[in-house]
Amino acid sequence: MQTGHELFIHELTDMLSAERQLVDALQEQAESARDPKLKQAFESHRAQTEKQIERLEGCFEEIGESPEESECKGIAGLIEEYKTFKEEEDPSPDILDVFSIDAAKKVEMYEINAYEGLVEMAEEMGHKKSVRLLNQNLKEEQQTFKKMEAFGKKIKPENSGMEEEEESERSSGGRKSSGRSSRGKSRRAA
Ligand SMILES: [Fe+2]
Repeated sequence: MQTGHELFIHELTDMLSAERQLVDALQEQAESARDPKLKQAFESHRAQTEKQIERLEGCFEEIGESPEESECKGIAGLIEEYKTFKEEEDPSPDILDVFSIDAAKKVEMYEINAYEGLVEMAEEMGHKKSVRLLNQNLKEEQQTFKKMEAFGKKIKPENSGMEEEEESERSSGGRKSSGRSSRGKSRRAA
């Protein structure tokens, strides 16, 4: 690779692949979410992602090029992490919601940085339509990140796994309560 133009195509391709992978991943996250508002947020971001794909295709149109045949391995890795956690850790529904929010934040961070770089490249090369389209995608990712951050502050694991320690710190004699921890266990089993 020798030119900025080629790099621009490469980076556009990367995000097109990322967004295409995310349509399915967001669908899965929506289906697995227990909190109804979180479920709705994943569903609406999935719909948004379909529009983002169209905007990226609009960028290729403006420069008269086609996407390369390559996969975004960064996003593939983050999606893989989510799927592996779900399959191997047997998380309770509340734990999966917390993990899913954090996974979404990691994805949004990746996308925000990628779109910032793409907007800069498009500006330097004078691709006005691409600047507008990429900025729209960037704005949506920033909004989604903030939304996920707010969910993260609201949705917490039901069982922190620290009940015994907290209880012994509170009681003067340092006596441990077995009641709290066994409640936590039964909740997890339910
Ligand atoms: Fe996106």
